[in-house]
Amino acid sequence: MGNCGTRDESAVAAAAHVRQLNVISQTVKADPCEKKQNRKMLEMSDPSVPGNIEDSKNISIYTNVIAFTLFELETITKSFRSDYVIGEGGFGTVYKGYIDENVRVGLKSLPVAVKVLNKDGHQGHREWLAEVNFLGQLVHTNLVKLIGYCCEDEHRLLVYEFMFRGSLENHLFRKTAAPMPWNVRMNIALGAAKGLAFLHNAERPVIYRDFKTSNILLDSDYTAKLSDFGLAKAGPEGDETHVSTRVMGTYGYAAPEYVMTGHLTTKSDVYSFGVVLLELLTGRRSVDKTRPGKEQSLAEWARPKLNDRRKISQLIDPRLEERYSIRAAQKACCLAYYCLSLNPKVRPLMSDVLEILEPLAGDGSGGGGGGDHDKGSVPAVGNLQVCRRLVGCKLSSPGPRCSPGSWLLAG
Ligand SMILES: Nc1ncnc2c1ncn2[C@@H]1O[C@H](COP(=O)(O)OP(=O)(O)OP(=O)(O)O)[C@@H](O)[C@H]1O
Ligand SMILES: [Mg+2]
Repeated sequence: MGNCGTRDESAVAAAAHVRQLNVISQTVKADPCEKKQNRKMLEMSDPSVPGNIEDSKNISIYTNVIAFTLFELETITKSFRSDYVIGEGGFGTVYKGYIDENVRVGLKSLPVAVKVLNKDGHQGHREWLAEVNFLGQLVHTNLVKLIGYCCEDEHRLLVYEFMFRGSLENHLFRKTAAPMPWNVRMNIALGAAKGLAFLHNAERPVIYRDFKTSNILLDSDYTAKLSDFGLAKAGPEGDETHVSTRVMGTYGYAAPEYVMTGHLTTKSDVYSFGVVLLELLTGRRSVDKTRPGKEQSLAEWARPKLNDRRKISQLIDPRLEERYSIRAAQKACCLAYYCLSLNPKVRPLMSDVLEILEPLAGDGSGGGGGGDHDKGSVPAVGNLQVCRRLVGCKLSSPGPRCSPGSWLLAG
């Protein structure tokens, strides 16, 4: 395994980058809102949905989601009052609300988030339907729970469990807040990885397609949950190696080969996971136009440093002020390196990612805690098989510039 990828890989990356930029610049002309610039809304015609549920009239089969009336959702958000707004995204505005017996007899008391489709926006009925179809069927601790929906005339709304700490994006990049400790970051990475692994291991795998910090929501105890299934897609079946799609997703997170070809696999999500892991490690955004040219794309800037032991300290978020174990950081960087490989076949499976992250995300005894900078005891990461598959198993003691695999095994 080379340090920085082959020349072919670099060419692919460069071509992908150019193409990404082209698509972005087209979108920029069409839409002045920066948030929407980042997402390519090329066409909304192909959300594969599990269970062949293709029309909203079939939604009622999901017995665990509630069909709300517009009146009920107006009641709990005080007619969508501006002081109830908790966020805004490509789908529309998000409001806080509270459901209980007063709204409808039999309802459990629960704080909720109500997402209202913006009729003038890029997303529409298909994203709303994909969200209801996927989240109506998939239930997991690391997926945000869909409580219900509303489909009245042209109105489309979604009602979720309320996530007390909002999005990872807000937490990680908010300058005024105290920096997120290392072990919290690793736990969030692990929780989000569990959500993705669950989707990939479903009977018919689901490709999430929009893995990014703003779509990872945090509960009061920092449990990470994936939200936003509007772009999710059922994975390839039988002998198929990929599903062909229109390229959609978010600039800075989408895998280069997917952007180039439209061929979507679960490995596209693994790449996006690598970008988010990198954001957690560095405290930098996936794309930051305020930085010098070579540093604007986080993955491009970090890739050559991720597998160079001497440069790890240049990568890790300076706000952590060395409150982390260097060896745990090396292992996390190594994992990010493989997730971000330009060759999707080299990227690990999400189940491998879990094995490697689990010891890093413990209570400190797993090498993930603070205060053991450069001398903490780091247990073995993952098992040998996982590491073999990941890095071709290098057991020799690592040199200053070495196979990241040897770090993984050195624990
Ligand atoms: N279930 C929820 N609980 C609490 N806050 C939420 C919930 N869902 C969304 N939010 C808040 O609303 C914001 C907007 O979310 P939304 O998913 O609509 O947009 P986004 O993820 O920021 O952008 P994009 O449209 O690109 O996905 C989130 O960043 C979060 O702060
Ligand atoms: Mg979102």
